[in-house]
Amino acid sequence: MLKNKSKIIWIITVTSLFVGVTLFLLTPVSAHKKRHSAADMQAFDDAYMEVVKMGDALFHGGGPQDELGITLSKTGMACAMCHPFASDVHPHQFPKFQEQMSEVAGLREMINWCIEKPNEGVMIGIDSEAMVALEAYIMWSHKGTIIEPGTH
Ligand code: HEC
Repeated sequence: MLKNKSKIIWIITVTSLFVGVTLFLLTPVSAHKKRHSAADMQAFDDAYMEVVKMGDALFHGGGPQDELGITLSKTGMACAMCHPFASDVHPHQFPKFQEQMSEVAGLREMINWCIEKPNEGVMIGIDSEAMVALEAYIMWSHKGTIIEPGTH
């Protein structure tokens, strides 16, 4: 009788272990517990595109520069004059060794270099609204590009 009881306990233990492990393995691994609704996704996209549009305007020499208290150019230059449609800004290559700075630079540092030197303006905060907008526009216009940091 006692032998049978311990056999049953053993079977229950092994079975629950098996079920537990199987369930654990079948559960999809995800950092996000909750799926976003279509309305959430639309709201995220709207907010994102607002920033991209601001970046587009700044890149073309306009945008809310006065409101943001920034001067991207003192001479009327605009990024788009040298980089039409964000050409040749190569965001997928960053961070990379940048000869002008003699160091490995990130995209935002390079944007600031271009603001100060060829664009003849005043550098902006690395985490400022304008910087995020310029980055957003540049990245948006390179959607689908393969990331190849450190290349030239
Ligand atoms: C007068 C022309 C000119 C203007 C205006 C200009 N750039 Fe540039 N930009 C260049 C040149 C030239 C380079 C290449 C520097 C190098 O890598 O030697 C460059 C490089 C860059 C790069 C890095 C590309 C790479 O592969 O290294 C970024 C990013 C960039 N510019 C962003 C901007 C942004 C943002 C603006 C506006 C704020 C801007 N540029 C305005 C001429 C210009």
